Amino acid sequence: MHSLYVYLEFTVQLELGPVNETCLLLHSPDFCPWLPAQMKEDLLRIYTDEAAHAEMSHALLTTVRDHTGVEPIQHRPYFLQELSRLYAAELPVYRPLVKLFFSIVSETLITGSLTKLPKDPSVQQAVRELAADHATDEGLHHAYFRRLFKSLWPKMPAPLQTKIGAMLPEIILAFLRPDEVAMTHMLAGYPDVFGDPARVVAETVELPRVRESLVDNAAPTLRMLAQEGVFSDPAISAAFDKHGLRQNA
Ligand SMILES: [Fe+2]
Ligand SMILES: [Fe+2]
Repeated sequence: MHSLYVYLEFTVQLELGPVNETCLLLHSPDFCPWLPAQMKEDLLRIYTDEAAHAEMSHALLTTVRDHTGVEPIQHRPYFLQELSRLYAAELPVYRPLVKLFFSIVSETLITGSLTKLPKDPSVQQAVRELAADHATDEGLHHAYFRRLFKSLWPKMPAPLQTKIGAMLPEIILAFLRPDEVAMTHMLAGYPDVFGDPARVVAETVELPRVRESLVDNAAPTLRMLAQEGVFSDPAISAAFDKHGLRQNA
């Protein structure tokens, strides 16, 4: 139940935060002015889709909380902390690009998990239905952000490609890494069962199958990057190797 809460809160904050901030940014005539008019207009639809995903995720969270009386833990999702860290490390002029690439990564990764969940019989029906609803929209968003990336990447000067490209593994991990702080906080609520929550979490996230599923979930985005020749830049390729995200696509 706590994992569900964390998952739903992740979705709310992702949609209302960086993803819809990116939609607003891209909708402005001054940012990526070369985007075709139709693609500028499509952003309004994506913006409303994402708001709806936030609303339905929040509605499921409150339903579960009201039904069970179990309060969600208070936490700031890991991806938001990581995003703040990445912004802080960059000059203000690069920050909109960091946000844009975070959205390109998240919008091309999210479909993978959303299409697996509805088929998983070990997941409760209400959660499977929520994921299936969300997946329908995200299939279209995936196509949109993929198209955007294919137009954007070749327009970027090589030094900018290297700079942003070398940051992409950290952006991917910001989205996919298990939220260790949230997990520790959850387990700490059950001291009789988990005497040392931080150790349990640290050992869990290092399990080979956790790592493998992370790399597996990154596959759609890695494939897209490979197809656009991103890994032909040795500095970018080395950054992906360093973070254990091999371009096996
Ligand atoms: Fe969404
Ligand atoms: Fe989306």
